Amino acid sequence: MSKYFLGVDTSTTASKALAVDSQGNVIVIKGNPHELSTPRPLWSEQDPEDWWQAASKSIREVVAEVGADNIAAIGLTGQMHGLTSLDKDGKPVRPAILWNDQRSAPQCAEVTEKVGAKRLYQIIGSLLLAGFTAPKILWVRQNEPEVYNRIAHVLLPKDYIRYRLSGAFVCDVADACGFGCMDVGKRTWSDEVLAAFEIPRAWLPELCESQEVCATVNEEAAAITGLKVGTPIVGGAGDQPASGVGNGIVTMNQASLTVGTSGVAYAANDRYAPEPDGRLHTFCGPIPGTWFHMGVMLSAAGGLRWLHDELAPNVSYDDLNKHAESVPRGSLGLLFAPYLTGERNPHPDPFARGAFVGFTLRHGLPHMIRAVMEGVSFGMRDELELLRSLGVNPSEAVIAGGLVNSPVWLQLTTDIMGIPLYTINTGESSAFGAAILAAVGAGAHADVPTACANMIRRVDTVQPDTKGTADYQRLYPAFRALYPALKETYATLAQFED
Ligand code: XUL
Repeated sequence: MSKYFLGVDTSTTASKALAVDSQGNVIVIKGNPHELSTPRPLWSEQDPEDWWQAASKSIREVVAEVGADNIAAIGLTGQMHGLTSLDKDGKPVRPAILWNDQRSAPQCAEVTEKVGAKRLYQIIGSLLLAGFTAPKILWVRQNEPEVYNRIAHVLLPKDYIRYRLSGAFVCDVADACGFGCMDVGKRTWSDEVLAAFEIPRAWLPELCESQEVCATVNEEAAAITGLKVGTPIVGGAGDQPASGVGNGIVTMNQASLTVGTSGVAYAANDRYAPEPDGRLHTFCGPIPGTWFHMGVMLSAAGGLRWLHDELAPNVSYDDLNKHAESVPRGSLGLLFAPYLTGERNPHPDPFARGAFVGFTLRHGLPHMIRAVMEGVSFGMRDELELLRSLGVNPSEAVIAGGLVNSPVWLQLTTDIMGIPLYTINTGESSAFGAAILAAVGAGAHADVPTACANMIRRVDTVQPDTKGTADYQRLYPAFRALYPALKETYATLAQFED
């Protein structure tokens, strides 16, 4: 009997393939990079062919090590929201427009006005954002009509890989929510929102649940990858919900905090309960009958990298940590607003910027380092508070991403959150989550929570320090006051970008 499950992750920087066994042991992982192009300000594009080249190579390398006969099923994941538009023969009509592309703000405003803001976010589970897929389709219609006229299919990045593996046009409901035209509560496309965008339903992929087998590997893909013809492919999920599965966040009141370049707070819910003002994403969960909430900070650990590269390029990360440790909590009254690349939640504002507030002559580089760490973690606390306002009350949370490599940052984050934070046994949580979904689809485990219980292990738990939590609780209101105080100034400063 086949014993391994493949997770394939088409991220923004690389396409990776990972094989795990039914107990969650990672057998092999391979990855190949792809380029990103920014041909104009606000634009961010990639060639879907590059994804396929990198993904098929990674799969081929994994198959060469574990053997095609040993692969029971494949789960796909990847960057969410990327518009991959194909003609009637399945050929891309233009480069894919990615999740971090900001060109479609006017199209978002147009459709939000048409449907009504409140009604729209109750249907689609979030404010309509320029990163989402559907406004990009409208942008193509208004700006590249000759390209638009050739479109016959629109897919998300990981579903393009599915198409190349199988010929099927299918998307799971969790990733499909990132289009911005799903009726999220009903787990289907919204005719009302599609009409507002004037998107033909025939262009959209079929929908399935994340652990459902929805396609099989065809002869052409088998010849390229070494996989066996007929290997089942499950729906999979976008990188965030797949990572939720990979972190074991599958039932109400569980949560994870991932602090990498960006920061994501993620929680599962057993009913559809969108944030009343659309300030979080609430999308279909990667488990049937569940939903997830997600709050995204666009710049998180990226803030510390910026400080290092710009102000302390010759200081090692070990020494940055030592500097941060040498400074008391609150950095002698220096605060950092972490919005270096604009912000998504809870302040959806492309003009938001970074700021240090509170310098005195006593402050130096060590205080700035600690203030950056504290500011990023206060930003994550804002995300946690939004989850709490929806009735999600985690008594502990998974912590993941680059932050876990800094003991001082991990402790101060735990103090700021006021709950224990724990790490788990895998770093590649999206590909790992996709492989878990494949294991469930192949029948190795009864359902996703059972698979998570069998395949995920806790590594370390960090406890909050009572005094630390009390100190940060006193400082948190001052952090919360930063964005409202600076909002108008940010908009003025943006005018000087040109
Ligand atoms: C989620 C999001 C990112 C991308 C790229 O809404 O925009 O997580 O999926 O990682």
